[in-house]
Amino acid sequence: MRFLDEMTVSGKRVLIRVDYNVPLKGDVIVDDNRIKQSLPTLNLALDRGASLVICSHLGRPKGAPDPAFSLKPVAARLSELLGRQVVMAPDCIGPQVQAMAQSLAPGQVLLLENLRFHPGETKNDPDFSRELAGLGQVYVNDAFGASHRAHASVVGVTEFIDDCCGGLLLKKEWQYLGEALKDPQRPFAAIIGGAKVSSKLGILKALMDKVDSMIVGGAMANTFRKAQGFEVGKSLVEDELLEDAMAIMVEAREKGVKFYLPVDFILGTDPKGGIASGVRTYQDIPAGEMILDTGPASHTLFAEVIKNAKTVIWNGPMGAFENPAFAQGSINLCRVVAALDAMTILGGGDTNVIVEQTGLTDKFSFISTGGGSFLEFLEGKEMPAFTALEKKS
Ligand code: 3PG
Repeated sequence: MRFLDEMTVSGKRVLIRVDYNVPLKGDVIVDDNRIKQSLPTLNLALDRGASLVICSHLGRPKGAPDPAFSLKPVAARLSELLGRQVVMAPDCIGPQVQAMAQSLAPGQVLLLENLRFHPGETKNDPDFSRELAGLGQVYVNDAFGASHRAHASVVGVTEFIDDCCGGLLLKKEWQYLGEALKDPQRPFAAIIGGAKVSSKLGILKALMDKVDSMIVGGAMANTFRKAQGFEVGKSLVEDELLEDAMAIMVEAREKGVKFYLPVDFILGTDPKGGIASGVRTYQDIPAGEMILDTGPASHTLFAEVIKNAKTVIWNGPMGAFENPAFAQGSINLCRVVAALDAMTILGGGDTNVIVEQTGLTDKFSFISTGGGSFLEFLEGKEMPAFTALEKKS
């Protein structure tokens, strides 16, 4: 794969696909990390005399314009971060947008409206891809977070532009997640949290061949505890995955991977309720209550498990962290991982929010901007956008 630093872009219009799928509350950006992470690529192209046509998706609109998913708030924030005007286009394709792109002078920046306002984006439609490609002379994919999707702006578009490459963020993700994990320093520990085993089965299985220790936390752990025969009260559980959970624990034993689950929990009756009703061990969960966070004994256990690790991967929260009453398990874990003398690699939207909340962002070796793409890349799945770029190298 070629990357932007090897390309000539002086005087050219560069179409850059970024992942500005940022969390919004109304039109306020809750976490601008993905915008910040795109700056090295944008600045490199600008410094080399290019004009920029930037495109991204935001959320999951249904293939038609929806003001709730407009990229307008992003244009304002990007303009502040770049220190230059970012012109917001009314759409991502069409004659008006084409005229706006063609009139760009070197150093000028145009942000296209949400790609998913057109059904052609997610369908990888050739006509949509061709129109989008017509906006640039060079194409750069810096959207690691969307590179597991076979969508027009990361796959189809490459069929219609000769000069295609990855951006600097894509390069960094590729190097850290790919190279660093090929030959990890040991002991190697994985911490996988989050609500659903179903969305993490692939990564759990893939990591089983690589790690020395595995910690499973978050509501996922309930399914594992139930598979072991323990009561989990009213907690979130995936009954259809009890066998898979058991199979993972058996595989861990067979492969010599030390497997850990939380040993105590913070309980409540509602993830959105403000009051935690107490701490109980995993053998002692009352029928009417819900497991909503990991408890202090689990924290001590997990800290002990990873204290000598030389490589740590962490994805997913330990509890219903959106509610401060159930965030402590994730925050405590974050502090412990941040303090390790190890290669620490984090990924996933929720994990990023926890890190942001603790203010420890610069204490980790690498924080991936990917959510689903982080998991799929580590699973070793094919990344359609990478394959498309490789064909162009
Ligand atoms: C993400 O936030 O993980 C990426 O932007 C991909 O978004 P998607 O899951 O809606 O394709």
